[in-house]
Amino acid sequence: MLSVLEWYRAAGVDVAVGEEPVDRFAQRPPARVTPPAAVASAVAERPAPMLPLGGDPGEARELAARAQSLDELEAILGSYDGCGLKLRATQLVFADGNPQAQIMLIGEAPGAEEDRQGKPFVGKSGQLLDRMLAAIGLDRTKVYIANTVPWRPPGNRAPTPEEIALCLPFLHRQVELVAPKLVMTLGGPAMQTVFQTSNGIIKMRGKWSEVSIGNHKVDAMPTLHPAYLLRNPPAKQQAWRDLLSLKLKMIGMGIA
Ligand code: URA
Repeated sequence: MLSVLEWYRAAGVDVAVGEEPVDRFAQRPPARVTPPAAVASAVAERPAPMLPLGGDPGEARELAARAQSLDELEAILGSYDGCGLKLRATQLVFADGNPQAQIMLIGEAPGAEEDRQGKPFVGKSGQLLDRMLAAIGLDRTKVYIANTVPWRPPGNRAPTPEEIALCLPFLHRQVELVAPKLVMTLGGPAMQTVFQTSNGIIKMRGKWSEVSIGNHKVDAMPTLHPAYLLRNPPAKQQAWRDLLSLKLKMIGMGIA
């Protein structure tokens, strides 16, 4: 029974909607009632809500702009209720690593282990990420790590464009406050969010370009996501080239 409950929780089914179970199959379907013409046309003309999820990116921008430090930003995010992801997540997964680092890594979204521990990249793909960093002489004391959304999407689904849009002002402020010299994004969704592109990761990976993240201009390069590398080990060859490119860039900038 406990494993079934854990399975439901992991899939995002964690709220009971009623006190008593209801057998919907035993219920008769309600009789169809044709609405009067006036009611039907009023319903048809009602404008669709602008933001079905109820969040307001303007409010998120305004709140994020208030933060004068990473601690303030974390506290503001912790009490922000505009993004529905928070409802299903165990806790906020704000960041890990060194806030003074010159290199910032941006992933997609926390998974189950990150949700449990409250830190990004601590599950299987995080362990691979640590090994990738170690291969070029880096570790979490030399990088700062965050995600495009700081709450785990239920069942590890991809965050929706609306959820990303609501969290983006906070990521922008986080980058402004860390002010890294180099940014590496991990995986397609993080790349599309940071580089504001609909291109695919295979086309974009390994290429450096200057991007504005919030008000911070920085050289950034997308690479493959460690979770993808776990599923496709041959792609590690490409990720290795990207890591070497990062190392060369660091040497060129005197931050190796
Ligand atoms: N994948 C991500 O993109 N981020 C995490 O924090 C963990 C897994």
